[in-house]
Amino acid sequence: MLLAIETSCDETSVAVVHDGVVRANLVASQVRLHAEYGGVVPELATREHLRHLAPLVRAALREAGVAAGELDAVAATQGPGLPSALLVGLKAAQGLAFALERPFLGVHHHEAHLYSPWITGQPPRADFGAFLPNVSLLVSGGHTMLVRVEAGFRHRVLGSTVDDAAGECFDKTAKLLGLAYPGGPLLDRLAATGDPRSFALPRPMLNEPHDDFSFSGLKTSVRYRLRDQPDLLAHDRRIHDLCASVQAAIVEVLVSKTVRAALREGVSCVTASGGVTCNRQLRRDLAAACQAHGLSLRLAAPALCTDNAAMVGIVAERQLASGAAPTDLDAEIRPGWSLTDLPNAVR
Ligand code: KG4
Ligand code: ZN
Repeated sequence: MLLAIETSCDETSVAVVHDGVVRANLVASQVRLHAEYGGVVPELATREHLRHLAPLVRAALREAGVAAGELDAVAATQGPGLPSALLVGLKAAQGLAFALERPFLGVHHHEAHLYSPWITGQPPRADFGAFLPNVSLLVSGGHTMLVRVEAGFRHRVLGSTVDDAAGECFDKTAKLLGLAYPGGPLLDRLAATGDPRSFALPRPMLNEPHDDFSFSGLKTSVRYRLRDQPDLLAHDRRIHDLCASVQAAIVEVLVSKTVRAALREGVSCVTASGGVTCNRQLRRDLAAACQAHGLSLRLAAPALCTDNAAMVGIVAERQLASGAAPTDLDAEIRPGWSLTDLPNAVR
């Protein structure tokens, strides 16, 4: 029985997992609080983590039907993320592990995302028996990466964004259109009734022979459209068309580069995780492209796409079970921790 804590950004989350089954996974989202400021305010995020963490731990234990003394281990996200936010969860988890005299494991936030597509069903259960070497698309507000993932927690980062993340591009273009933060989900909704061919927008780095991404040019091109046609925002239909066109550009780049990397790497499986994996067109188009190329596809369940402690707990439990050394109880947060710095990373 393992308790996991996630506080790397703007969701406070606590999970209890046992033998690969998620017994509780509670998330206190701060999205509405930060919306007022148009982005995550670190001081506010930290204060909210401090306020919510202890009640969430109690509630997660209650929901899982276990007493703190029955826990075998404690885990928390150690990085990357907002320093003061990470500090709240990491130090609380280390304190709990110290008091219970149980091992503690610090988890890499992106590694947790990479394995989230293998958690399926109700109650959610890790399906590592079906694990296949895969090319994994990790797309969230802060990161966009393609990673080759193999058994034994080995992975190789194939490419990442050189500027904005895909989620950032959704959010920044949505903001230009006057939509509330975070704009990704709203843009997704408005795009459903728009024509994706109405605005010819760039597909940055689509055909370049590497796995990196760049999304800031796409956002700039939307800004120029709005500068040149200021009355565009006065017509709902045109806004919906622009949303659909932006979404089509982002999704085409993500899908095309992911499938190309999987075929080149010779894997038979593609996975996707992170908040942007909630995007309905991305889910549809990735499914169609994978089917067309004979690749199997695993998309993280929508509830596990955004930040959550279940994915942290599942990875921690499996790593401890496969002999990973516990993390020191005085280990520090690692706000800039890169996936390439993990011991099992292949360069
Ligand atoms: O993984 P996540 O919850 O947080 C980070 O670790 O960054 O991802 C949040 C991002 C935001 O940029 C949000 O706009 C985006 O995921 N997002 C979406 C959708 N749902 C969330 N983007 C496009 N379409 C969606 N349906
Ligand atoms: Zn994340």
